[in-house]
Amino acid sequence: MKTYRFGIIGCGLMGREFGSAVARWCHLTEVDFRPEITAVCDVNPAMLGWFTSNFPGLRLATSDYRELLASDAVDCVYCAVPHDLHAPLYCDIIRAGKHLLGEKPFGIDLAANAAINACLAEHPEVFVRCSSEFPFFPPMQRLGRMIEAEAFGTLLEVNSGFLHSSDLNPAKPINWKRLVEINGEYGCLGDLGMHPCHMPFKAGWYPRNVRAILSKIVTERPDKEGHLVPCRTWDNGVLLCEALDPVTGKPFPLTIKTQRIAPGETDTWYFEVKGTRACGRWSSTNPRRLELFNYQPGADQAWQHLDMGWEAAFKGITGGIFEFGFTDCIQQMWAAFLHELHHGQPLSRFAACVTPAEVAWTHRLFTAALRSQAQGSTEVV
Ligand SMILES: NC(=O)c1ccc[n+]([C@@H]2O[C@H](COP(=O)([O-])OP(=O)(O)OC[C@H]3O[C@@H](n4cnc5c(N)ncnc54)[C@H](O)[C@@H]3O)[C@@H](O)[C@H]2O)c1
Repeated sequence: MKTYRFGIIGCGLMGREFGSAVARWCHLTEVDFRPEITAVCDVNPAMLGWFTSNFPGLRLATSDYRELLASDAVDCVYCAVPHDLHAPLYCDIIRAGKHLLGEKPFGIDLAANAAINACLAEHPEVFVRCSSEFPFFPPMQRLGRMIEAEAFGTLLEVNSGFLHSSDLNPAKPINWKRLVEINGEYGCLGDLGMHPCHMPFKAGWYPRNVRAILSKIVTERPDKEGHLVPCRTWDNGVLLCEALDPVTGKPFPLTIKTQRIAPGETDTWYFEVKGTRACGRWSSTNPRRLELFNYQPGADQAWQHLDMGWEAAFKGITGGIFEFGFTDCIQQMWAAFLHELHHGQPLSRFAACVTPAEVAWTHRLFTAALRSQAQGSTEVV
């Protein structure tokens, strides 16, 4: 069992999810690697207490990430900080020779992402991947295997989206994710868009062009003192893309939807593939339910509902009839990162983290989407 020693930079919402996944690593039964958290860093010292009380192997807790990068006790870094810090911090992590799982959007904009990739090109010995966890739900893994088996036939359409609803409340206070200077011009695209791009891009379904309709719905929000301040980020984005299926060579419509104001949707991620031979769809609203359609000439055209249990890519102690959840898919994503680092290749095509090349495609898409919105045009990606 090889131990990889991790430093965490940014100990907020996502930093703790990683901590929890590490703390119950014994859940996974067939892995020959394990993470250990040896250092944590956050500029807000209040975020460090949960780690110092729960992780006995911790040797360093600091507010200066350079101190963490200088530590010999750190092999890899998980960096989960606001978007404006991605390029400077990711580049420093790569230059320090630490393997990196970075958070999306992996640079606040196209130029920041290019700067990270240039740094990576100078340090090919460093293993770098981007966080995105939803494809690790068992029904999504099943859909991934169907894509690999070319089971769908000629693609009719693919729809992928990520929807939130709490911004429907105009009294919700503004935070960094709603400030253009920190979250970026992409708005909801940069914040949510990696998730719905993950499966299509792993499938090789890249957009050739895009027509985007972006909406600013709530233009002011209260700050901490209750004063109304401008809220300039895009709330909702609908992208209609023409993508190409490398298997058939044929184009098909691909929609990518990212919405912060989708009434009733609580962190809903969905993915739907419709083809001439088969169709499949899944939504995190009903996470064990996979809907499948198999076309048999002459037979009734009927959708089947399959309720899947804990059929994870990386095997664990949980019985196959029990439910799989968000914390499981976070841990599966970490197993995928470490599996690829340890073995030099992913467990399978869809049990793999997003690569820097796939991330670069999201930046091309979101930048083209901003142009499309500004000009009311269809833009080449
Ligand atoms: N994969 C997912 O499902 C998912 C979900 C939410 C957020 N994210 C991404 O994770 C990243 C962080 O988001 P979050 O929701 O955890 O944010 P958060 O605000 O909860 O946490 C960010 C933390 O970074 C710290 N920080 C800021 N500047 C720092 C610095 N210079 N050095 C060290 N720490 C610093 C802050 O004090 C804060 O504790 C973003 O890129 C976001 O898009 C991913």
